[in-house]
Amino acid sequence: MGQVSRIVVVGGGQAGGQAVDSLRREGFDGEVLLVTAEDQPPYQRPPLSKDYLAGRTGLDRVLLRPAEFYAESSIELLTGTRAASIDPGAHRVELATGRTLDYDRLLLATGSRVRRLDGMPGAHLEGVLYLRTVEDSDRIRAAMDSAERLVVVGGGYIGLEVASVAVEAGLAVTVVETLPRLLSRVATSELAAYYAELHRGRGVDLRLGSAVAGFRDDGSGAVGSVALADGSEIAANLVVAGIGIEPVTDLARAAGIDCENGIAVDSGCRTSAPDVFAAGDCTSHPNAFFGRRVRLESVPNAMDQGRVAAAAMLGADRVYESEPWFWSDQHGVRLQMAGLSEGADRTVLRGAYGDESFIAFHLRDGVLIGVDAVNSVREFIFCRRLVAARARPDPDALADASVPVRTLLPAR
Ligand code: NAI
Repeated sequence: MGQVSRIVVVGGGQAGGQAVDSLRREGFDGEVLLVTAEDQPPYQRPPLSKDYLAGRTGLDRVLLRPAEFYAESSIELLTGTRAASIDPGAHRVELATGRTLDYDRLLLATGSRVRRLDGMPGAHLEGVLYLRTVEDSDRIRAAMDSAERLVVVGGGYIGLEVASVAVEAGLAVTVVETLPRLLSRVATSELAAYYAELHRGRGVDLRLGSAVAGFRDDGSGAVGSVALADGSEIAANLVVAGIGIEPVTDLARAAGIDCENGIAVDSGCRTSAPDVFAAGDCTSHPNAFFGRRVRLESVPNAMDQGRVAAAAMLGADRVYESEPWFWSDQHGVRLQMAGLSEGADRTVLRGAYGDESFIAFHLRDGVLIGVDAVNSVREFIFCRRLVAARARPDPDALADASVPVRTLLPAR
C-alpha cells in the first residue's frame, strides 16, 4: 500500500461525515477533503421527519459535529460542491466547478436520492414535496403552518413519521399506500397492523392498496387534490411523497466501478477500483447475518461503514459486520428493530400488539434472528445483543416480562 497523504471524501451525509471524523480519530494527519453538494456540514437525517420537522429541535442540534469541528480538525469542507466525475486511474476527482482534486484514497459516500412521481400528472404543482434534506424538512414545516389537509403518498417510515408530526400540528391527514399494508419493506404484517391501528386511532385516514393517479391544480398552480386510480379524489393543499429511495451510483458507474444494487464493496468497504472505497446508503456489501449481499438503508450502517472505510483507507484490516437495526418514532411510540423478521418460523410475544409496550421475538430453528420492540428502550439494548450473539433463548423466558432480557444473554 502506497503512502497516503491526501484523502478525498465525496458525499457529506452521515457516512461521509463519520468517515472524516474517524480518519482523524485513527490518527491520520494528512490532508482530508470533504466534498458535499449540500449547503450544510454533515447532519443527522432521522430528526428531519421527527423532532426537527415538529420544530422541537434546531439545525445546530442535528449537525453530526459542530460547524467549527472541520476547521479545528483541519478538514477542508467544500459545501455546495458537486463532484462531476472521478478517474480512478489518474487518482483524480473533477468537481462541477472545474477544480480537480488528486487523491491517494477516495471514499464515495454519495448516499441515496428519493424516488419521485415526476411522470405523474400534476407532479410539479406547488405543494407536492419530498423529504430528504434539511431544506426539504424546512419547506414541509413551513407548508404545514398554512395547510389544512395533507396527503402522504407512501406508507413507509417517511410517510408515517410525517403523518404523525402533521396530526400533532393539527392537519387532517390521509396516507395513500399502493400495497395492501403499511411498512411492507421492513415490518411483519402483525406489526404493520398494529401501526395501522395506531394511525387510525389518531385520526389518520389510511387508504391501503390505493394508487395515486395524479394531482389537480387548485386554480393557482398549487395542488388542490389528489386523484386516486379508483376515480376518487382527496382534497389536499399539501402532499408529501415518501415512496422510497435509490442509491446514488452515477460517479461510480461512469468510472466503471462494479455496482450491484448499489456500489459493490467488500467487508472492508473497498470497491472494484484500487484506492476507491465506498460507504453508506449507496453501497451493497456481503453481510454475514443475511448470508448474501445487501444494501441497507439505515443510519447505523452508514456510521459503521464510515468508520470501517476510514480505517481501511489507512491500511487497517477492519471488517464491517453488524446486524441491521432501525428505529422510528410515531405518535409518541418508539419502535426499535434489530435483525430480520423475514424467514422466521416462530414469533414469541412479550406482551401483546397494542399494549403500551411489547416485544416480538422472531426465531428460526430456535435461533433469535430478529426483534421488534415497542416502547421498550432499555430492554432493546439487550435484545440487540441477543440477536448479535445468534442466541437460542428459551421461548418461555422470552414471553415472560418478569425475566429481564439481559439474563438471557449467553455466557461469554
Ligand atoms: P420506504 O421504502 O420505507 O417506503 C416507501 C413506501 O411507499 C412503501 O410502503 C411503498 O410500498 C410505498 N410506495 C411506493 N410507491 C408508491 C406510490 N406510487 N404510491 C403510494 N405508495 C407507494 O421509503 P421511505 O418511507 O420513502 O423512506 C426513505 C428512506 O428513508 C428509507 O431508506 C427509510 O429507511 C429511511 N427512513 C428511515 C426512517 C427510520 O429508520 N425511522 C425514518 C424515515 C426514513
